[in-house]
Amino acid sequence: MKQIDANPYTPGAGHSPPYLAGRHEEVAAFREHLNQDLILKNVILTGLRGTGKTVLMDDKYKVAAQEAGWIWVGSDFAESSFLSETNLCVRLLTDLAVFTSSLSIGKPDGTLGFDTKQNRQQSLSYDFLSTYFAAQPGLMVDKLRATLEFVWEVARERGTQGIVFAYDEAQVVRDREDKDQYPLAILLETFQSMQRRKAKYLLLLTGLPTLFPKLVESRTYAERMFTVQEIGRLSPDAAREAIEMPLRERPWKFTPEGVSRIMEASDGYPYFIQFICRETYDHLVANPRDLSIPLDAIIRKLDSDFFSGRWESVTDRQRDLLFCAAKLEHADEEFSISEIVEISKQLEVKPFGPGDVSQILPRLIEKGLVYKNRLGKYCFAVPMFSGFIRRRFMSSEQQLRLFE
Ligand SMILES: Nc1ncnc2c1ncn2[C@@H]1O[C@H](COP(=O)(O)OP(=O)(O)OP(=O)(O)O)[C@@H](O)[C@H]1O
Ligand SMILES: [Mg+2]
Repeated sequence: MKQIDANPYTPGAGHSPPYLAGRHEEVAAFREHLNQDLILKNVILTGLRGTGKTVLMDDKYKVAAQEAGWIWVGSDFAESSFLSETNLCVRLLTDLAVFTSSLSIGKPDGTLGFDTKQNRQQSLSYDFLSTYFAAQPGLMVDKLRATLEFVWEVARERGTQGIVFAYDEAQVVRDREDKDQYPLAILLETFQSMQRRKAKYLLLLTGLPTLFPKLVESRTYAERMFTVQEIGRLSPDAAREAIEMPLRERPWKFTPEGVSRIMEASDGYPYFIQFICRETYDHLVANPRDLSIPLDAIIRKLDSDFFSGRWESVTDRQRDLLFCAAKLEHADEEFSISEIVEISKQLEVKPFGPGDVSQILPRLIEKGLVYKNRLGKYCFAVPMFSGFIRRRFMSSEQQLRLFE
């Protein structure tokens, strides 16, 4: 038996893969954005759950930015960042301060205290930034812009090429008309007006496909402010690399049939590739003599590890509707209200009227299972969800038959 080392595959949220396959075009396009003299376009990176947005941003875009002499600041956006305009400003300044704390400027003359060299320097800490922010005249957007422009001037003098504000999970962005708070509008306005005044800040927002429509809803000019990069399945070559490369220095590898079965079962989606490969590897460690891939068992485990949690939160009637959508031929692309109404008449569920469907879909959107695309059609927000739903319904149909 050959020596088997630790399992290299990393299914997870934001876990760097052992080998980040493909995505060359996206990285090249991101680099182009760093070459803009005047920043006219910012970047949105979207895709369904588990398509590799977070790792692409952390492992590739960040490195590309740093290689180009840019500073990278940012973190995850949380709902709380968009509760109020103040929260958003605190978020941005907190993230910026991680970088600016290492910058310092001369203190204005007349400061009390010993006049040592160190004493004449003032670090741009978070406290400094928030004091500066508070002292600026105007509205929140003016204060934020003035503070960021001030930081840019200092950074530029130190040789910085630009500053990327990179935010993950950015689909939570929103305005709060009910509370008269417009944090998203402030975010967009601030970046747009700073960029017009030649400050080199680039905004990179990463999240589910609902992100871009939300931005445009807040400020129509957002449509022109961003390039949207949408990532999904890996190309067949990249999927093959994602499967094979992690084992390149290992004593064994997948057979060509093994690779194609994993490609097929994962449909090229990065999370599923990592999941299936990891399970297969563990199976091999536990059963060194059995070199086959127990795909059925792995898919069942995937159903319970990845999909079931999302399914639990759905009511019976909502499940029926999801089943109808999953039975459509092009379920994995997009579907409309009328298609669901039509197909529901042919399936063994209580038929849906258009009113029912348009009432239920928003609930499913809230639960993060479905989203509305730019053409006003609906899509599953989770890759390969339709297959899971059909498996669920098939097994319950079989169970029912057992009790007849
Ligand atoms: N290009 C790639 N090659 C190989 N594996 C990848 C690639 N991209 C992502 N993965 C793997 O897929 C999984 C999901 O990646 P990641 O968490 O970045 O997805 P995501 O799009 O951010 O998902 P979510 O929407 O849930 O935040 C991780 O286990 C990661 O290691
Ligand atoms: Mg992510």
